[in-house]
Amino acid sequence: MKFSLSQLSPVEAEASWILIGITEDGEFDEAVQSLDEALSGSLTRMKEREDLTGKSGELTIIPDAPHLNADRLIIAGLGKSDKLKIGGFGKSIVTAIRKIASKEDQTLSVCVPVSASKAFSEESALERIADVVTVGCSTQGLYKEEQDRHEFTAVTILGAEETKQNQDAIARGCILGEAVNLTRKLVNQHPDDLYPDSFAQISADEAAAIGIRGEILDEHMLDDENMGALLAVSKGTDRPPRMVVLRYEGGGEGIPTLALVGKGVTFDSGGLSLKPSAGMITMKSDMAGAATVLGAITAIAKLKLPVNVTGYMGLVENMTGAGAYKLGSVVTARNGKTIEIHNTDAEGRLVLADVLAYAVDHKVDKIVDLATLTGACVVALGEDVVGAFSNNQPWCESVLNSSREVGEDIWQMPMYDYFAEQLKSEFADCKNIGSRWGGAITAAKFLEQFVDETPWVHLDIAGPSYAESKSAHQDAGGTGVMVRALVRLAMEN
Ligand code: BES
Ligand code: ZN
Ligand code: ZN
Repeated sequence: MKFSLSQLSPVEAEASWILIGITEDGEFDEAVQSLDEALSGSLTRMKEREDLTGKSGELTIIPDAPHLNADRLIIAGLGKSDKLKIGGFGKSIVTAIRKIASKEDQTLSVCVPVSASKAFSEESALERIADVVTVGCSTQGLYKEEQDRHEFTAVTILGAEETKQNQDAIARGCILGEAVNLTRKLVNQHPDDLYPDSFAQISADEAAAIGIRGEILDEHMLDDENMGALLAVSKGTDRPPRMVVLRYEGGGEGIPTLALVGKGVTFDSGGLSLKPSAGMITMKSDMAGAATVLGAITAIAKLKLPVNVTGYMGLVENMTGAGAYKLGSVVTARNGKTIEIHNTDAEGRLVLADVLAYAVDHKVDKIVDLATLTGACVVALGEDVVGAFSNNQPWCESVLNSSREVGEDIWQMPMYDYFAEQLKSEFADCKNIGSRWGGAITAAKFLEQFVDETPWVHLDIAGPSYAESKSAHQDAGGTGVMVRALVRLAMEN
């Protein structure tokens, strides 16, 4: 989409739509006042009658505005000005975009609300506007003939100066929005479209497009690398596993390397511990961790951040074919630990065990892994909050802060050592599940065995990476959660 900045007032700007935001308290800002005057005081009267409240999520459409150069006006409620944060602001704007992007060949002019420029900064507001316009116009109807939303032919942002800084902020927003869209698209692709090899090919194409190096390890190479836990999971399918490694070296030598590790189970049937249909229907999305890593690394590279980031994506399909790994089997992970399988549906941690150990062996300095790891995390934190687990508090604080700065909801969970006792096995070094209670934590304690002393944060995104139903601010399906947070983390560390 083509974005530009303009100093025209919203009364002068020509567009299919003018989008403005108003808060619940305080006066109209200058841009809104000028619109109000051109509309002969309509907005003031609507406010007095409480038809226009500025409450968060409220949308007011004026479908015919003869005194403006634009065809129509949409007003997004931003909530109370002292509560205005970047995440909520983005949600309000994207809600409006999703409402109006249904027709083809439309143009849009957006006013930067003064309240937003005060609450964060003008640049942050511009960046987020470009980001959510990019996300809000995209459609999840991958397999539909008719699309329900379309990009605008031109987007003009009003009220911010045409400086290099502001243009850069918009460019950053577009890159972030496109990265979120890439992650969402991968999550939504059905499992016979997106499987380990096709995911690896897409990663290779993305890497080539942005000019970064990488490797794809096939099943033989994974065997040579002693990745027995990951390979066990893939035994029940004809589709061979892959591991993708992508290296972005923007920092040069001497700068620490951040590893982003993603669970990429392209379909999780549960294996012989078969899932019931109701639990299996969304399991094409069990590669969201890997898709988030790919989305984030493309954005980090396009933004040319002065950092070194390596993405590791463990790609397998968990099926029930004749060779499927069995309950009671003992598998040997890359670091030599033996694992007794008590449940083949706890496969993500087996995949990550080997990929984490591989990253550690390659001397990365810090690790963040992302995984749709446990239903228990969704029970604990709900569908919208990411669970964070760590062996290193300062590193965890960095991840929590980056997430909060970009408005992604996250909560740290405890890592008491007694949870690890549940993983003791009679026959092997450990087993792959604990008891029913605290299942998200025992999963994290399992992973901890494979990262040695490397500062590591595990993010369980089982809830927030996939929306089971649509809402005003987002489509059903992949959400792209944590792409923005990872990019921010790379900027700040
Ligand atoms: N992919 C699932 C976790 C999941 C559940 C993701 C719901 C998204 C939504 C994972 O592989 C799994 O099946 N975990 C089991 C672990 C159990 C067997 C210890 C679970 O959560 O039930
Ligand atoms: Zn599973
Ligand atoms: Zn899974």
